[in-house]
Amino acid sequence: MENTSSPLSHENTSFLLAYLFLFLLPFSSLHLVSASSQHQWDGVTVTRPDYRALRAIQRELVDSKGFLRTWNDTGYGACLGTWAGIKCVKGQVISIQLPWRGLGGRISEQIGQLRALKKLSLHDNALGGPLPRSLGFLPYLRGVYLFNNRLSGSIPPSIGNCHSLQTLDLSNNSLTGNIPPSLANSTRLFRLNLSYNSLLGSMPVGLTRLPSLTILALQHNNLSGPVPDTWVGTGNKSDQLQVLSLDYNSLTGTIPVSLSKLSLLQQVSLSHNQISGTIPDELGTLSELQLLDLSNNSINGSFPFSFSNLSSLVSLNLGDNKLSGKIPSTIGNMSGINLLDLSGNKFSGEIPDSLAGLTNLSDFNVSYNNLSGAVPSLLAKKFNSSSFVGNLELCGYSTSTICPSPPAPLTLSPASAEAPKHHRHHRKLSIKDIILIAVGGLLAILLILCLILLCCLMKKKASLKQKSGKMGDTIGKTEKEVPTAGTEVEAGGEMGGKLVHFDGPFVFTADDLLCATAEIMGKSTYGTAYKATLDDGNQVSVKRLREKTTKGLREFETEAAALGKIRHQNLLALRAYYLGPKGEKLLVFDYMPKGSLASFLHARGPEIVIDWPTRMKIAIGVTRGLDYLHTGENMIHGNLTSSNILLDEQNNAHIADFGLSRLMTAAASTNVIATAGTLGYRAPELLKLKNASTKTDVYSLGVIILELLTGKSPGEPMNGMDLPQWVASIVKEEWTNEVFDLELMRNTPTTNDELLNTLKLALHCVDPSPAARPEAQQVLQQLEEIKPEVAAAAGGQGDDDAKAAAISQ
Ligand SMILES: *[C@@H]1O[C@H](CO)[C@@H](O)[C@H](O)[C@H]1NC(C)=O
Ligand SMILES: *[C@@H]1O[C@H](CO)[C@@H](O)[C@H](O)[C@H]1NC(C)=O
Ligand SMILES: *[C@@H]1O[C@H](CO)[C@@H](O)[C@H](O)[C@H]1NC(C)=O
Ligand SMILES: *[C@@H]1O[C@H](CO)[C@@H](O)[C@H](O)[C@H]1NC(C)=O
Ligand SMILES: *[C@@H]1O[C@H](CO)[C@@H](O)[C@H](O)[C@H]1NC(C)=O
Ligand SMILES: *[C@@H]1O[C@H](CO)[C@@H](O)[C@H](O)[C@H]1NC(C)=O
Ligand SMILES: *[C@@H]1O[C@H](CO)[C@@H](O)[C@H](O)[C@H]1NC(C)=O
Ligand SMILES: *[C@@H]1O[C@H](CO)[C@@H](O)[C@H](O)[C@H]1NC(C)=O
Ligand SMILES: *[C@@H]1O[C@H](CO)[C@@H](O)[C@H](O)[C@H]1NC(C)=O
Ligand SMILES: *[C@@H]1O[C@H](CO)[C@@H](O)[C@H](O)[C@H]1NC(C)=O
Ligand SMILES: *[C@@H]1O[C@H](CO)[C@@H](O)[C@H](O)[C@H]1NC(C)=O
Ligand SMILES: *[C@@H]1O[C@H](CO)[C@@H](O)[C@H](O)[C@H]1NC(C)=O
Repeated sequence: MENTSSPLSHENTSFLLAYLFLFLLPFSSLHLVSASSQHQWDGVTVTRPDYRALRAIQRELVDSKGFLRTWNDTGYGACLGTWAGIKCVKGQVISIQLPWRGLGGRISEQIGQLRALKKLSLHDNALGGPLPRSLGFLPYLRGVYLFNNRLSGSIPPSIGNCHSLQTLDLSNNSLTGNIPPSLANSTRLFRLNLSYNSLLGSMPVGLTRLPSLTILALQHNNLSGPVPDTWVGTGNKSDQLQVLSLDYNSLTGTIPVSLSKLSLLQQVSLSHNQISGTIPDELGTLSELQLLDLSNNSINGSFPFSFSNLSSLVSLNLGDNKLSGKIPSTIGNMSGINLLDLSGNKFSGEIPDSLAGLTNLSDFNVSYNNLSGAVPSLLAKKFNSSSFVGNLELCGYSTSTICPSPPAPLTLSPASAEAPKHHRHHRKLSIKDIILIAVGGLLAILLILCLILLCCLMKKKASLKQKSGKMGDTIGKTEKEVPTAGTEVEAGGEMGGKLVHFDGPFVFTADDLLCATAEIMGKSTYGTAYKATLDDGNQVSVKRLREKTTKGLREFETEAAALGKIRHQNLLALRAYYLGPKGEKLLVFDYMPKGSLASFLHARGPEIVIDWPTRMKIAIGVTRGLDYLHTGENMIHGNLTSSNILLDEQNNAHIADFGLSRLMTAAASTNVIATAGTLGYRAPELLKLKNASTKTDVYSLGVIILELLTGKSPGEPMNGMDLPQWVASIVKEEWTNEVFDLELMRNTPTTNDELLNTLKLALHCVDPSPAARPEAQQVLQQLEEIKPEVAAAAGGQGDDDAKAAAISQ
């Protein structure tokens, strides 16, 4: 009520715009027809048909949480970014993106009026009703993300008309009916996920011939009939099936031999079906195969010898089938295997000794077979009896299944030759043995826990892929400006870009990346940083490099590949890079939810206290990262500031922007060092010498530790002095306690000692003479001595892995 004038004037402008809009509207469609005058409509006003369609869509949605209340004007805001979830090009809607908004109701058939629509993302809502048939009339539609809703009815065959379709994810709905064979006409399909529905009928044969299909997930449906045996491998290194998930259906027939043509297959799961027949030997040629799950079927025959050639295999589950014969000893050649489940079959003979040599085996089950003889002692120690039970003639894996020992050790008579051959290790168990077995059991449990994590990670890794994004017929032109919040980063032209992944927890395509919702986080000399939310909800941070300042393509790729290999808990990991068709370069990093140390320290509310252990944890983290950079990677950071130290949920420090100067031209990286000085982190000798060194990095580290101690930003001058000078001047006058951040002063005397010792160390780091400064390693040692308990706690890095595992399914 106090400032009535500003809302009023705001309303006035709104009214004026609405007025203008109403009067101009009749002409806008005309303008659109005449191509020459299109430019004035770019991003300004939505076209009339699109406006009407949006309104119709809104009418049929139930927006109980009020997310669509921004759709309140007469349309002029729709393409200006004020309507939540809408993006346009030239006044035409190209993307509707409203995931996790609690939306109910249904999707209007009028959506077919949005002729330029490329992306429809309404996943994780409560949408019911059928999938609009009119989606099939959208020629540019590339991505449909409607998973985790309550859509019912069948998939309209018209969807096969969407020739640009790359991703169709309708998983976890209540869809019924058949999978329309016309889907095979969407020849650009890259990811098809129809899992967790109630789809019936057989798998369309056409799906086996889609040239770009990389992920096919149809698990948890009611599909019947055989899996088609018409798979064709195009031999195309980037475009071929990698993940095939058909588990939990009612599929019959045999395992298709033609799967062996798909040389890039990484995961095949057919479990919980009614598949019979034998395992084709040809599958042994799938050299990329990491996961094979054929469990819970009716497969017979023997364990294929060719499987010893599956050198990438990590997880093999053949449990609950009708397999028979011996377990071949060449199974020991699957050196990387983690999980081996052969339980519930009719395998006979002995457990081969070679299995004991599989060091990574952490989940092993041969229970309920007809195996006999002694369990190799290493396996018996590693796994508990539940891995071996249900084999009447198997012995040596528990105290109650001791193998028959020779009559007496001293009377080695001819009779003992008749005893089973494998009695080498078998005498009566001493108490020591029993303890060993108990300890072994405990270890096995630990190992299984580790395995669950590992296995999840491997699955994730398996579906990571390197794939170029194919930019379909892009309407609209490339954004002139760097993308702002709510703008689609759009690469134009016919040539695709190139996305290169390094190891990491996320799966995404170039298209996913370019279509992600982006929010500007900050700008630096290297370029602009965005927080990008991918359609699966994962977040990454993306750095768009200034084009003119980067090295040539080949050099850039070599350097980026080297940076992508650097992994340390206190260094921000580079997960991927993208080269656009027009020379744009994006770097993809882990997203750090707490932002930079600078904002954490200096932009917090008055009520937020950062205690001493937290500050110390950050200091130790930064120092560890820097030390690794210097000693492990032999790399200088050159521009360490509190703005490029990022914090994760647990306040672990991650140093960013290291090595980026290697991607830049020499001129550009000199420029970076020059600007670093203005921020107050630059060592004095850099004024004369242009060469950054480990000592200039340590100077910056010292400034950061001072920043943590004083709570003051080195950017703000104090009586014309920089932070180190200011601290030194106060310490000289013996008012030392004055320098510390006030909130650190409510502490105990022991903390006081720690503060003082840390201050001394920081001042040592900012010594004007480079030679007098310690190396990062010595700084680390001293910090660890000052606060050993924090140093020990800051050592673990389990969080990333746990997160990766949680995301992986
Ligand atoms: C529309 O809604 C937004 C956000 O709720 C509000 O700021 C704006 O004033 C509203 N505009 C009109 C014309 O009602
Ligand atoms: C399916 O969606 C529901 C909620 O919409 C969610 O609770 C469930 O975990 C989802 N299932 C799968 C397999 O993703
Ligand atoms: C397919 O969708 C299901 C359910 O939403 C999800 O759990 C699964 O990870 C998806 N699979 C692939 C391979 O994308
Ligand atoms: C695929 O498209 C062609 C023509 O474009 C059409 O003749 C054919 O029937 C379509 N196939 C399916 C399965 O719909
Ligand atoms: C699958 O089909 C069977 C009958 O054919 C039916 O009993 C069952 O409920 C169906 N399952 C689902 C998940 O629709
Ligand atoms: C392989 O894929 C690329 C990119 O998608 C495509 O341009 C090329 O024609 C394909 N080659 C073959 C042999 O299919
Ligand atoms: C496997 O089972 C089928 C019947 O389902 C039978 O015809 C075939 O002979 C069996 N093969 C072996 C090797 O037992
Ligand atoms: C393993 O692969 C090699 C080379 O491809 C082949 O010669 C050999 O026969 C294969 N081994 C088995 C058991 O299939
Ligand atoms: C087979 O299916 C049953 C029931 O779904 C399950 O309990 C069992 O663990 C499965 N067997 C294997 C080897 O995965
Ligand atoms: C298994 O590995 C051994 C050596 O470790 C090798 O001699 C043998 O040829 C391999 N067998 C197969 C089938 O690859
Ligand atoms: C065993 O696992 C470790 C860690 O995942 C991996 O580095 C190693 O290469 C694996 N060993 C083999 C023989 O694959
Ligand atoms: C092995 O499989 C059996 C039968 O499926 C199961 O009861 C047992 O818990 C499994 N043991 C381990 C260690 O996975």
